[in-house]
Amino acid sequence: MKILSVTSEMFPLVKTGGLADVTGSLPKALSSLGVEMVTLLPGYPGVIDTIETAIPLIEFDDLMGETGRVLRAVQDGLVILILDIPTLYQRDGGIYLDDLGVDHADNWKRFAALSLAGARIGAGAIPDWVPDLVHVHDWQTALTPVYMRRVLGETKPVVLTIHNLAFQGQFSAETIDGIGLPSDIYEIDGLEYYSDISFLKGGLQFADAITAVSPTYAREILTPEFGMGMEGVLTSRRQALTGIVNGIDAAIWNPATDIYLKQTYSVRSIERRRLNRADLLHRFGLDHNSGCVCAAVSRLTWQKGMDILAESVDEMVANGDSLIIVGKGDRAIENAFRDAASRHPGKVAVHIGYEEELAHLVLGGADVLIQPSRFEPCGLTQLYALRYGCIPVVARTGGLSETIVDANDAGLAAGAATGIQFHPPSRQNVLLALQHARDLYKKPLVWRKLQREGMKSDFSWMRSAQQYAELYESLLNGPDIAAKNVPDPEPAPRLQLLS
Ligand code: ADP
Ligand code: GLC
Repeated sequence: MKILSVTSEMFPLVKTGGLADVTGSLPKALSSLGVEMVTLLPGYPGVIDTIETAIPLIEFDDLMGETGRVLRAVQDGLVILILDIPTLYQRDGGIYLDDLGVDHADNWKRFAALSLAGARIGAGAIPDWVPDLVHVHDWQTALTPVYMRRVLGETKPVVLTIHNLAFQGQFSAETIDGIGLPSDIYEIDGLEYYSDISFLKGGLQFADAITAVSPTYAREILTPEFGMGMEGVLTSRRQALTGIVNGIDAAIWNPATDIYLKQTYSVRSIERRRLNRADLLHRFGLDHNSGCVCAAVSRLTWQKGMDILAESVDEMVANGDSLIIVGKGDRAIENAFRDAASRHPGKVAVHIGYEEELAHLVLGGADVLIQPSRFEPCGLTQLYALRYGCIPVVARTGGLSETIVDANDAGLAAGAATGIQFHPPSRQNVLLALQHARDLYKKPLVWRKLQREGMKSDFSWMRSAQQYAELYESLLNGPDIAAKNVPDPEPAPRLQLLS
C-alpha cells in the first residue's frame, strides 16, 4: 500500500506542536506494517537547510500563480517530498505567524498551493510513485480532496485527520477567486462558511474518511460545545468519522536512552530520577523543594487552560509547590507567567520559547505535569509524562480523559491509576487536584506505584498505526469503513475507575 501524507509540519524538520510528532512518527510505525507512507511538506527554511541531499523531481508552474518544484529527500529512512516555492515558504517568522504573532496574510495561498500540489501528486503527477490513497491533516491540507474531486476528477480515497478543530482555515469569500476552484464550490455543501470560506469545511465535505485524534474527541466534536461551528457538517458525515488515538515515538521519548537527561532511568531504576529533579531545579534557579515540582510544557493558550494556571500560581506557591513553565503563545499569558516568576523568585521559573531539549528535561525531572486544557483532541505531552514517571494532572476532556487513569479511590485500589483528572478546568479545581497530588506525593509508596503504572502503560504507535492501516485497507477494498469506530451518540466511556 502506498500512501501520500500531505502536512504542514513534520518532526524533526519543522514543528509547532503535536501534529508534527504524529506526521513524523506515523510513517515509521506504518512501514513496519508494510505500508509505505511518503510525506509532502512545504520547503520552509528549516526544512531546506536541514536536508542535505534533495533531488528535483517535477515542477508545477501553476500553483496559485506560483511555480513550485518538488524535491525528493530521504530523512531518517523516510521519503520526503518538499514543495519548494521560495516566495511562499522561505520567509522570516514562524510557519503560520509572522514575528509579531500575526497570521501571514497569504496563508490561504500558501496552503492552497500545498493542497493542490498534494492533489496532483495524489492523482499521479510523479509517474514512478503513484499513491493508492492520500492522507491529509487539518485545515492546511484540507483542500486536497476538493482539488482531487472538483479540478482533477480523481476519485482515489482521501483520509482527513482532525488534530484540532479550533483552526479551520477561514478566509473572506473573495478568496475563492484566487484558489482555482470552480465558483459553484461557494455553497452550503461546499466551502461556504458563515459568509466566509473554510478550507477545513471543504475537506470535511470531500474526504472519504475523517479521523479525529482520539475516540473521545470524535464524539465531542459532534456537539456544539466542542464542534466549533462544524458540528452540523460533522454530524452529516458521522458515518465517515472515526477516532484513532495518537501514539508516541517510543524511541525518541525513552527515559532509559534520552540523550538530554542528566541521568537516564527506567521503571526498574526510577529512584535515579531524583538527580534529574535536582538538576532541573538548579537549572531553573529554583530552591530545593519538599513539595511538588509542577510543570507545564505547552502552547500558552486558552485551549490549554494556561490562563487558569497563571491565575493559580500564587496559591500553588503558598501551598508549597514550585512551578516551571516552558512554553510560548498568547502574549498576555506569557506576561502573566513572567510576572508570577518575578513575584516568586526561587519558586516559579518561566522559559518563554520553544525548546525540544527543555521538554525532555522537564518531563524527566518534574513531579507533576499540569494540563488544565479546555479541550484536548489527544494531547501528547501527558503521554510523554507518563513514560517519564512525571504524574499528569489533567482536565477530563478529549484524549486526556482516555489516556490517564484517575487516582480516585477505585483507581488507587485497583492499582491502575496513572494520574489525576479534574473537571471542569477552573482555578479552584486545579488547586484541588494539586492538593490531591501533594497528598499522594507524601506517600512515597503510593506515588511510586502511580509512576510505575504510568511508565508501563503502552501508548506506542503500534495499535494506532494498525487502525490506520485497517482504515486505508477498508477504503481501498470496499466502501464499508471500520464501522466499529463510528462515534456513538452516547457520552464517551471514560478510562477511569469510578469509586
Ligand atoms: P498541541 O499539538 O495542541 O500543542 P500536544 O500535546 O499534542 O499539543 O503536542 C505538543 C508537542 O509540542 C509536544 O511534543 C510537546 O512536548 C511540544 N511542546 C509544546 N510546547 C513546547 C515548548 N515550549 N518547548 C518544547 N516543546 C514544546
Ligand atoms: C493538536 C491537538 C493535540 C493533539 C495534536 C496531535 O495540536 O491540540 O491535542 O495531540 O494535534 O494530533
